[in-house]
This record gives sequence, structure tokens and C-alpha cells, in this order.
Amino acid sequence: MSWTLGFVGCGVMAEVMIAGLLEEGLLAPNQILASNRRESRGAELRDAYGIRTTTDNREVVSASDVIVLSVKPQTLAGVLSEITDSVPSSALVLSIVAGASMRVLSQGLDHKRVARCMPNLPCRIREGMTVWAAPADTTDTDVDRIEQILGVMGGVIRVDDESHVDKATAVNGTGPAIVAQFVKAMLEGAAYIGESRSVAKETVLATLVGTAKMLQQSDGHVAELIDEVTSPGGTTSRALQVLKQGRFSAVLTESVDAAYQRTLELGAQLEDTLS
Ligand SMILES: NC(=O)c1ccc[n+]([C@@H]2O[C@H](COP(=O)([O-])OP(=O)(O)OC[C@H]3O[C@@H](n4cnc5c(N)ncnc54)[C@H](OP(=O)(O)O)[C@@H]3O)[C@@H](O)[C@H]2O)c1
Repeated sequence: MSWTLGFVGCGVMAEVMIAGLLEEGLLAPNQILASNRRESRGAELRDAYGIRTTTDNREVVSASDVIVLSVKPQTLAGVLSEITDSVPSSALVLSIVAGASMRVLSQGLDHKRVARCMPNLPCRIREGMTVWAAPADTTDTDVDRIEQILGVMGGVIRVDDESHVDKATAVNGTGPAIVAQFVKAMLEGAAYIGESRSVAKETVLATLVGTAKMLQQSDGHVAELIDEVTSPGGTTSRALQVLKQGRFSAVLTESVDAAYQRTLELGAQLEDTLS
């Protein structure tokens, strides 16, 4: 069945989804509507993808079967109050806005059919991961549509309990920065021992990707891989000892927890703004 998808806020993430859906032939350009505050941005997307664009959020919302809220968190309150009377009762609203709970969205829109997700940075190159949640009574059609929209950005995991979306905001959302910080530190280490920049970059990234693929293919615990490459008195053993002295694992755990606590704080602030 033909359906219409509307984006409210058409920045980086919305464009990734639009490009992916069209490229994979899941939707035709005339099935996609997008509103953006700046008309010049709408024109860019119209020219690039042949979709319909406007600066009127209500126009998009009232004509869509699925509405993706893809504005920044600080803009959300204004957008919700602007569109609340225009959301068709049969429409599904899918928010990609970090921190906005389904309760906040539902209340702000006076609308029950809402879903929420957390994509991550590699979604921009369609190699990301998105964790999403929706009420248990979400229809199969809606589930299919959500998975089509998010699936063009990479992997997709549905969770029953929305609290996992907040946890994914810390792990999945913050993860790329933590991993990039790790890569930066490895490159600094390589430079310290005199490795050339080009060899270091290539080997560090290949090591990261290769290790990740091995871990993905293995059913065993991550510790088993570490054990496999650690011989008594060897180089890895020395390196791991230094990481231990520097509280490497503890610091990473603390940093993920800090991101999680901040996610909860931002969610609570959003709730205060909207109540
Ligand atoms: N980028 C990521 O990697 C990532 C990852 C996970 C989650 N997210 C979430 O995804 C959401 C969108 O992120 P993004 O990176 O795509 O942001 P973005 O590039 O800044 O896109 C937001 C768009 O919304 C438009 N906009 C602002 N106010 C508006 C309004 N009142 N009505 C209609 N459009 C409006 C902006 O237009 P102007 O340019 O004219 O202001 C901009 O084009 C955020 O809530 C973020 O938390 C992003």
C-alpha cells in the first residue's frame, strides 16, 4: 500500500533517511514530504531528491501517514505545540530527538501512536545502529515502516522497554566519540614510538574493524579473544598491565555512566519544558 512519509526538520539525519529510502526503492520521491525552517534547505533537498518540501510543518504533518520528528532537542517543544492540532489520528509519529520520551511526545502532541529511537553517528554513512521502542500495541504495518525508515541507516534493534533507548543514547549514541577518542590515543601511541602517520592510521583502523568483525562472529566472551593473544611475559601482557594501572576499564565504565546520567538529566529537563 502506498503511504506518505513526512519529515519535520530536514537536516543531516533526515537527509540520510531520504537518500537511503529512495536509493533502495522503498519509497518514490512523491511519497516523501519534508518541512524545514529555512526554505533554502528545502530547495536543496527538492533539487537533489525530487521530494516535496515546504517551510510549513503543519502542511507536512497533516498529509503524512508516518511523521519523523528530526529537529534538535532544543527546538522540540515549539515544534510539538505548533503541530499538535495537525497530526492525523491515524498517523504514526517517530521521533529521533535525543532524550524525548514517548510520554513527553504523547503528551505534547495529545497523540498515542508514537515511537522513539536513537540512531548514532555512523548512520550518516549508513553503517550505523539504531535502537528503537514503540508501545506494545503498535501495528505490524507501523513496525514494518519504522524498520524500513531506520534500516536504511544501518542495523536496527527494537527494544520492549523504552529505558533501553536512554541506555543506547549513552552506549550507541556516545559510542562513536569514545571509540574515536580511543583511536586518537592509539595514533598518539604509534607516533610516540616513531610509527609513520599513514601506517599508523591504516593499521589502527584495520585493527579496530577486524577485531570488531571477529567479535561479531564469535559466540564466546570478549575476554576469550584477549586471552588468546596474551602470552605470559609477552608484549600484549605488558600493554594490558599498563592499561590496568591507568584504570582503563574503570574509566570507560565511568564515562558511559556519565553519558547515561546526562541523558536522564536532559530527558527530565525536556519533560519540565513541556509540562
Ligand atoms: N546527527 C547525529 O549523528 C544524530 C545521532 C543521533 C540522534 N540525532 C538526533 O537527530 C535529531 C536531528 O539531528 P541532525 O543532526 O539531523 O540535526 P540538524 O542537521 O541540525 O537538523 C535539524 C533540522 O531541523 C531544522 N529546524 C530547526 N528548527 C525547525 C523548526 N522549528 N521547524 C522545522 N525545521 C526546523 C533545521 O533547520 P535550520 O538549519 O534552518 O535551523 C535543520 O535543518 C536531533 O534531535 C539529534 O538529537 C542525531
